[in-house]
Amino acid sequence: MAYLQVNEITKRFGGLIAVDHVNFEVEKGEIVSVIGPNGAGKTTVFNMLTGVYSIDSGEILFDGKAIHNQKPLKIVEAGISRTFQNIRLFPNMRVIENVLVGTHIRTQYNFFDTILRNKKYQLEESEKTKRAIDILNSLGLGDRIHDYASNLPYGDQRKVEIARAIATGAQLILLDEPAAGMNPQESEELLHFIKELRDKNFTIVLIEHDMNVVMHISDRIYVIDHGKKIAQGTPEEIINNERVIEAYLGGTRNAGD
Ligand SMILES: Nc1ncnc2c1ncn2[C@@H]1O[C@H](COP(=O)(O)OP(=O)(O)OP(=O)(O)O)[C@@H](O)[C@H]1O
Ligand SMILES: [Mg+2]
Repeated sequence: MAYLQVNEITKRFGGLIAVDHVNFEVEKGEIVSVIGPNGAGKTTVFNMLTGVYSIDSGEILFDGKAIHNQKPLKIVEAGISRTFQNIRLFPNMRVIENVLVGTHIRTQYNFFDTILRNKKYQLEESEKTKRAIDILNSLGLGDRIHDYASNLPYGDQRKVEIARAIATGAQLILLDEPAAGMNPQESEELLHFIKELRDKNFTIVLIEHDMNVVMHISDRIYVIDHGKKIAQGTPEEIINNERVIEAYLGGTRNAGD
């Protein structure tokens, strides 16, 4: 069984079947992309993986355990974390504080340790701060840690979100359109950073419209259209897949109407 095993998941919103019996798997250490036209159901898949939405049928197994229909916090504790298509940072908090929010999900000290601010609390806090700074340094944000999140350029805010996802201690990171709003240089940097994450033994699932990013970093790609998986394969196979080309051209034609 794969590290992440998704079997026949379905999500309905009233009469709309947003995700229709979708299967996919991700092995440890892979970078897997999920692509497809707008409204295809990609973010809905992430929302089911992270417990934001329940699933109507199917199952999701992570590291051999069923995780579907659990609370989002439980899923983070199990080792899956994400970023959002629309940036969700605390704009009035500093960069470092935003990343520390991620580390606090797995706090070992208890309520009394906190109010007493005792040794255990202080030690753990300083270790977490150090780790948060390390993560921000690795993203090239070391000199922005005391800035307010809202003062950062858009591309850097996306990186802070990734930093927060990593800071939770999760091993499987889901990125929902991380290159959106980035300029070509920023998306090139992002590409390198995602590869570095893989080299550090993270597993990545990526939703992305930037085909330069998708084709250069994906080990494998799944294509969703109208809630259904229509193709899977290597970047090479996907570029040449008739159904994929048709789905994208169809989308462009509709958008132009
Ligand atoms: N909470 C919801 N309630 C009702 N419909 C929803 C809800 N969330 C998503 N949908 C619908 O489900 C379908 C899939 O949406 P989803 O956001 O998963 O698409 P997507 O592939 O991420 O698209 P995009 O590339 O534009 O982000 C769309 O038709 C959308 O309107
Ligand atoms: Mg989406």
